[in-house]
Amino acid sequence: MVETLVEPDAAAPVLDVRDLSLRFRGFDRDLLSGLRYSVRSGETLCIVGESGCGKSVASLALMGLLPPTAVEIGAADVRFCGEPLDLGDQARLRSLRGASMAMIFQEPMTSLNPAFRIGDQIAEAVMAHSGATPAEARERAVAMLRKVGIPAPEERLNEYPHQLSGGMRQRVMIAMALVNDPALLIADEPTTALDVTIQAQILDLIRDLQAETGMATIMITHDLGVVAEIATDVAVMYAGTIVEAGPVERIFNDPQHPYTIGLMSSVPRLSGPRQRLTTVPGTVPTPQTMPDGCRFSTRCPFARPVCATDPPEREFGAGHRALCHFAPLETMLERSA
Ligand SMILES: Nc1ncnc2c1ncn2[C@@H]1O[C@H](COP(=O)(O)OP(=O)(O)O)[C@@H](O)[C@H]1O
Ligand SMILES: [Mg+2]
Repeated sequence: MVETLVEPDAAAPVLDVRDLSLRFRGFDRDLLSGLRYSVRSGETLCIVGESGCGKSVASLALMGLLPPTAVEIGAADVRFCGEPLDLGDQARLRSLRGASMAMIFQEPMTSLNPAFRIGDQIAEAVMAHSGATPAEARERAVAMLRKVGIPAPEERLNEYPHQLSGGMRQRVMIAMALVNDPALLIADEPTTALDVTIQAQILDLIRDLQAETGMATIMITHDLGVVAEIATDVAVMYAGTIVEAGPVERIFNDPQHPYTIGLMSSVPRLSGPRQRLTTVPGTVPTPQTMPDGCRFSTRCPFARPVCATDPPEREFGAGHRALCHFAPLETMLERSA
């Protein structure tokens, strides 16, 4: 049995992030501003938003994968399994990473080393976080490869990453991420580069493993079909802020922020076809072009002078919230009529 470094507190969210702000050194505006989200055991939080809005940077910060020389993290209040987590504590983050928290990426070669056999890489991940012997670690690697659907795992162990297909490499990366039974998995667009059939298989795999282990999952995606399929909750991110968040049904059926409404407008309903988020005209501002007040104001069809001031966070019950002067939607439409 692999030793866990954090005893999960069943009552607390696995990850609870409050007020996470971050800037790259040399910039005078925050890239991420006041992020708040949490995810519980067995739940899947989908973080959606266009390319460049900070989804990956936020996750890398939580995993301790951003060099402190490049970023300055604000006084965030982060709890992991109920315990405070200092995002500046590199040693602690290193010990959690790959054990209690794991991350998978769009490009498996971000995690896999091309120079080592896959069996050795997975066994190494086991031994790094437990007292397992090489033989035990290898056995665990075989079991994990079998679990992620790699045929003939005893033989595959000896192969190098380049000998595998893209889908198989993705499975190996998942095996390596999950081999120590993490409480939290962050999956950063893990299926974007794969063809549709393989995408569906990988999503099913993640879902099955989650059902088995009860891990909390944060899925970063811009595929609303993926969101509809696996999310329990959704956080909509725009230019480094969460503009709307809530249970998946609320976000699809009753979106309140103009940005979310724009994203959803091309998607009929929860059961709709797969769609990409391409419907809002314009591009995400960079820290240099970030407007004051509401960060979406430069693209918002409803923007008014007041939007140059910070928008309030409005609550609609059941954890549904939006960051907009004019939410809920009815109010907004009346005012613009
Ligand atoms: N090393 C860096 N230095 C300065 N800015 C960066 C750096 N890396 C990323 N950024 C900024 O962070 C933004 C968000 O990046 P990212 O988190 O990758 O977006 P997403 O994952 O949502 O597509 C980028 O558009 C860029 O402006
Ligand atoms: Mg990204």
